[in-house]
Amino acid sequence: MRSHEHFLDDDFADFDNMAGSGRGGRRAARNHQRFDDEPPRHRRPGTDPEFELERADAEEDLAPPDGDRWSSWDGAEHGPRPYPEWLVTDSGAVDAELGALKSGKEADVFLVRRALPDGGRECLLAAKRYRSDEHRMFHRHAGYQEGRRVRRSRETRAMAGRTAFGRSLLADQWAAAEFGALTRLWSAGAPVPYPVQRMGGEVMLEFLAEPDGSAAPRLAQLRPEPDGLADLWAQLVEALRLLARAGLAHGDLSAYNLLVHRGRLMLIDLPQVVDLVGNPRGDEFLRRDVRNIAGWFAARGLPASTADPEELFRLLVAEAFGM
Ligand SMILES: Nc1ncnc2c1ncn2[C@@H]1O[C@H](COP(=O)(O)OP(=O)(O)O)[C@@H](O)[C@H]1O
Ligand SMILES: [Mg+2]
Repeated sequence: MRSHEHFLDDDFADFDNMAGSGRGGRRAARNHQRFDDEPPRHRRPGTDPEFELERADAEEDLAPPDGDRWSSWDGAEHGPRPYPEWLVTDSGAVDAELGALKSGKEADVFLVRRALPDGGRECLLAAKRYRSDEHRMFHRHAGYQEGRRVRRSRETRAMAGRTAFGRSLLADQWAAAEFGALTRLWSAGAPVPYPVQRMGGEVMLEFLAEPDGSAAPRLAQLRPEPDGLADLWAQLVEALRLLARAGLAHGDLSAYNLLVHRGRLMLIDLPQVVDLVGNPRGDEFLRRDVRNIAGWFAARGLPASTADPEELFRLLVAEAFGM
């Protein structure tokens, strides 16, 4: 087994093994014997002027090995400061795609390793790429945006008309909405993965991994014992209170959009986050969220008196409107 397969959940049937991107293979290639006076390979252009002068004629040698890309950090919108210490922000780092974590209707999620060459620091990221291809529509588009001020423009008309240009703008807009929500929630102390960066229709997040390196499971995959179930419910209520205090509801809350990361419940998949105060249908979305998730907990055996959607709804409305 190549070492990176370890990071991917067996459950992801559509895992797409990228041939040749295994860690062992690349490490071996990077560490191959070189003469001492040979200039360093795979250095990012512009990071070493001397190197640039010597090697200006050998453009292809400036590319990272094995079809990887230079870290996209420099060109991207960044997450909230202070940046976590595990995050690799060096412009000499290389992004290697390790495989697909999940393919969805509206987005695909990939596992990416961002590492300094020659065995330096590295971190793992989940890259969520919104689709902009012909046959995919954003079923979540309608309703959520109500109450947001949208300027009529060439762009909004293109999005409404679903031209290729319009679809790619929609993908960018979903990515921007998710990144904005995650940034806001992370800063408010909510349990969400750290939002590393956004570029076009791609959002990169902290990869939530179990100690063995596999992806944190979705709540839907788990069958917790009664104590564990009650603990997860308590965590959920706290997280939703925090969102409500920030004036927000998740908007697509389910046991598939909650990960259990080393015992901590984490909210993911937030592009359609709902503004409880500004959206005239905010309470509808909140009620649906609460019903969905309370239903899941009740079906797993949490007493109905605890997993009570009406009571949770009232609590969250009170948080949102400061009552
Ligand atoms: N930060 C992350 N760490 C680990 N796994 C993740 C992360 N983000 C997403 N995933 C995995 O990818 C799946 C799809 O992500 P999600 O944001 O829910 O997109 P979709 O719109 O396709 O439902 C999740 O169910 C989860 O298994
Ligand atoms: Mg999801």
